[in-house]
Amino acid sequence: MANGDPAGRRVLLVIGGGIAAYKCLELIRRLRDHGVGVRAILTRAATQFVTPLSVASLAGDRVYQDLFSLTDEAEMGHIRLSREADLVVVAPATADLMAKMAGGHADDLASTALLATDKPVLVAPAMNPMMWGHAATRRNVQRLQADGVGFVGPEGGDMACGEEGVGRMAEPHDILEAILARFDGGADERPLDGRHAVVTSGPTHEPIDPVRFIANRSSGRQGHAIAAALHALGARVTLVHGPVGVAAPAGVDVRPVETAAEMAAAVTASLPADIAVCAAAVADWRPAAVAAAKLKKSADAGPPLIALTPNPDILKALAEPGPHRPALVVGFAAETDDVERHARNKLERKGCDWLLANDVSPPTGTFGGSRNRIVLFTRDGEVERWPELDKADVGVRLARRIAEHVDVLEGRG
Ligand code: C5P
Repeated sequence: MANGDPAGRRVLLVIGGGIAAYKCLELIRRLRDHGVGVRAILTRAATQFVTPLSVASLAGDRVYQDLFSLTDEAEMGHIRLSREADLVVVAPATADLMAKMAGGHADDLASTALLATDKPVLVAPAMNPMMWGHAATRRNVQRLQADGVGFVGPEGGDMACGEEGVGRMAEPHDILEAILARFDGGADERPLDGRHAVVTSGPTHEPIDPVRFIANRSSGRQGHAIAAALHALGARVTLVHGPVGVAAPAGVDVRPVETAAEMAAAVTASLPADIAVCAAAVADWRPAAVAAAKLKKSADAGPPLIALTPNPDILKALAEPGPHRPALVVGFAAETDDVERHARNKLERKGCDWLLANDVSPPTGTFGGSRNRIVLFTRDGEVERWPELDKADVGVRLARRIAEHVDVLEGRG
């Protein structure tokens, strides 16, 4: 198979029960135009919006619907169904289907196949804007992203229900593009096989006394997504992370820590590594002394003065030349102003090979949010401006970029 050629690839398309299901007919047709094989599962609700007959006719294959159908199981068991594809696509991903995926439910064929699959999953959500914005859906999206699930859409605009807002399923063209981009990695599905990557993620907590600490708003989503994406490309991944609310990706060796000093020690202990990605928002300073007992309010003494001392710079230490320097050291620059100038300086100062700059000024909502807009600077003077992406997709893009370079970097360091 030629590198990036989608012909001969297979998609398992899980069609959920939403009005946007009709767009899947067009998606199937366009996938088949590219030589992509499509096998479809319809949820019970999906059959209210598209008929199994139209899906089967366009897919050129029978459709699967029932977990407990003897004929289905005899022809193609649900486990095999979930594994015999290169990519699983859920479109439309309804709020209910996403909740099931996030919760690991398996009470019908669609959710069972999604739980049983060992293949990458891409979802195209579609729902009413209030449902998309609901705290429960937000939680489910975060959890799915942390699990390495990719998202395409939803988009803003008029909804079939007459309301306006974000919730429309991405157009078939955009879903097709997202699928083809996934296949662009070519025949080598695990280009990072045999490589070890260390990833730092999340904030650090620096204690002031037994109950108080200095922290920051980092969610850990970006670092965790990078760890998941590197693992998906075959790397052995050690994820050293501070206190976060997101789940650790499956298959990754996890080292939870609290402070910068603990993070530095855990990173050193995980060397040697071929790749290091420092995505953690490490506190630059920590209280010079940690009070043994809770600091008390005192009417006459006023508020306590907390003297700070610098934390070890993990990225800088990793990038220093030496026998344990990873072949590729990648840092982040979260900036709120003059992003590119600060990023170039940081690349120089830290001595890393690549630096991913992102604007975290409050209006962007990226720090602690779910999306990121990256500008990648390399030590060789390359500059790449990436579009705004979900953090999961930033992870996938970075992991692929690393996979392209790892041979080039062989022996450097
Ligand atoms: O210096 P600044 O915190 O802006 O640099 C950001 C980059 O350096 C990130 O990649 C972060 O993970 C890393 N860093 C580190 N140890 C520190 C401070 C930052 O690894 N003490």
